[in-house]
Amino acid sequence: MSILENIRQQAQKLRETVELHNYRYYVLNAPTIPDVEFDRLFRELQQLEQRYPQLVTPESPTQRVGAAPLKEFSQVTHRTPMLSLSNAFEEAEVDAFDRRVCQGLEADNVEYAVEPKFDGLAVSLCYENGVFATGATRGDGYIGEDVTLNLRTVKSIPLHLPGGLHSTRHPTLLEVRGEVLMLKADFEKLNQQQRDRGEKEFMNPRNAAAGSLRQLDPGITATRRLTFFAYGIGTHAGGGVPCDKHSHVMDYLASLHFPVARERQVVSGAAGLLAYYHAIGAMREQLPYDIDGVVYKVNDLAQQERLGFVSRAPRFAVAHKFPAQEAVTELLGIDVQVGRTGALTPVARLKPVLVGGVTVTNATLHNEDEIRRKDVMIGDHVIVRRAGDVIPEVVAVVAEQRPSYARQFIMPDHCPVCGARAVRLPGEAVTRCTGGLFCPAQRKQALLHFASRRALDIEGLGDKLVEQLVDHAIVRTPADLYKLGIAALAGLERMADKSANNVVAAIAKSRSTTLARFIYALGIRNVGETTAKELARYFGNLEQLLAADMESLQQVPDVGPVVAQSIADFFAERHNREVIKQLRAAGVRWQEGDGAQQAKLGASEVGGRTFVLTGTLPDLTREDAREKIEAAGGKVSGSVSKKTDYVVAGADPGGKYDKAIELGITILDEAGLLQLLQDSHRT
Ligand code: IVH
Repeated sequence: MSILENIRQQAQKLRETVELHNYRYYVLNAPTIPDVEFDRLFRELQQLEQRYPQLVTPESPTQRVGAAPLKEFSQVTHRTPMLSLSNAFEEAEVDAFDRRVCQGLEADNVEYAVEPKFDGLAVSLCYENGVFATGATRGDGYIGEDVTLNLRTVKSIPLHLPGGLHSTRHPTLLEVRGEVLMLKADFEKLNQQQRDRGEKEFMNPRNAAAGSLRQLDPGITATRRLTFFAYGIGTHAGGGVPCDKHSHVMDYLASLHFPVARERQVVSGAAGLLAYYHAIGAMREQLPYDIDGVVYKVNDLAQQERLGFVSRAPRFAVAHKFPAQEAVTELLGIDVQVGRTGALTPVARLKPVLVGGVTVTNATLHNEDEIRRKDVMIGDHVIVRRAGDVIPEVVAVVAEQRPSYARQFIMPDHCPVCGARAVRLPGEAVTRCTGGLFCPAQRKQALLHFASRRALDIEGLGDKLVEQLVDHAIVRTPADLYKLGIAALAGLERMADKSANNVVAAIAKSRSTTLARFIYALGIRNVGETTAKELARYFGNLEQLLAADMESLQQVPDVGPVVAQSIADFFAERHNREVIKQLRAAGVRWQEGDGAQQAKLGASEVGGRTFVLTGTLPDLTREDAREKIEAAGGKVSGSVSKKTDYVVAGADPGGKYDKAIELGITILDEAGLLQLLQDSHRT
């Protein structure tokens, strides 16, 4: 064998290996080698082909990267026309389809192959002796465009069929039909990229796929992640193709490494069809690609032939479509909603319209920039989309239908709920209410944040409780929490006396905290736990922080102009200062000073504190508990007074417990005591 022939074989082997790994990665989603190993094999092949250009073949995986741009697409006449399917929308239409099929075949129960209806672009791929030769769009069904070079860049399309080149086992001609689409995840990534570059976003995965496939420059197509799914075979010659059932044809295509829908099934009768429709409908949102319905095909190919075609659609198949997810309606106005973090979200008020079987009256417009980018004006006709549980959104404007009275939307400069200033920081898309703790719309979130573990750590003050407290106007600001009595809580849903007691005790306990936790608990935008610690360390006390100007704020490690501005805005709101004042009045105290000081103060959680024991503890005897407290420098007293710091309560506590609650003294159980002892030990 000549040296060149030897190298040719080596290159061929490498190509097959690379294609096999491509298949495992892109079609099976189950790679068997790490990416670096794949890259190494790919480079090896590239180098070999660079050294011996005469060995390069069009079906080499190195040729997927995109050829030179075209001036125009040439036309391709399909060997067998690519027809369309008739549609069914109602169950009655599906029944009627099954009845017609049964009548036509003189059978009572027909077997169907059922599959998702991909929402992409139909293409035809021709393989000559197992090698991908030409690929075309559907066009008008008879004549399409030659998009071979673009299709070559689609990694899940095999460039040659497995089993080696020119294998006698492959048909001499095989026309595979299917759909080119973009996976939802790839679509999201593409649009993110478009946004980052300030370029126009694609409306949906279908448009993105169409825009990517119909590019004259295959280099662009190569940068877009397209996917292919096969759903049938057109013309074929030379044997090997199953000729009994459609389901076997699909299995055959899968064996040739074509991606086929995993969700395909064989069912019988109209009941089987409808059950499949509902099953796929239920999993639609979870599928990695968009579908717009399901397709039912008589499974037996001889029966298909007997049924034949009417005009341009087969009698043996039908598309059962899902209700449309998009609709056009009028944009009556734009309201501004205040979200949980103070973000002002423009919401479209729509003339009610049925989208996917649900009446939609509101849809999100995301933010000011989105409105400008989509050029949305009040009075416009807009396309509204609904997808699963996601909030409906305005996707685009029907520009041709803009009325003369259409007007611009202006983002308010004050919060529509609390009237505080609304600011949009440079580089941010979102306008926010600066009302902070005062704004009712932000209250719930602020309270939850205030009570969260790393803030004031109020156990038991969860979503449900905060919601009720705010909705019933029992609590407006975090300061109000300290006025809560058991009676107010016990009247609420899911609040037994015991849990009300626990919450009141947990709130009382939170009165004693650190400056860092207190600053963090205020929920100042852009001030996380670390920044809060830095601020506490730098300023040492709250007064200094409140008095700080932009310049001194920026002296703090980690604090740049954006964070400094957030802090300044927060303290500039009178309401926020008011809440801080009330918290102090409610007895919230923090240890000030730097981190080292705080560590020392942490030790005094037990040291110098007065404890009262009541009830039976699960493991410790009273004596054990006393010893432990005293060993850590604490005192144990027999009666509860204002001077008591903690009451440790076990089972069947007596009047001391009630007194502690009355006085708002922190109540601990055994575990709480042990935790406190451990914490003070550690510091
Ligand atoms: S079978 C004779 N199966 O739907 C027609 N088509 O109106 C045979 N489509 O543009 C088509 N998913 O591209 C078939 N699983 C599927 C499909 C499917 C999507 C598209 C197809 C065509 C349209 C038919």
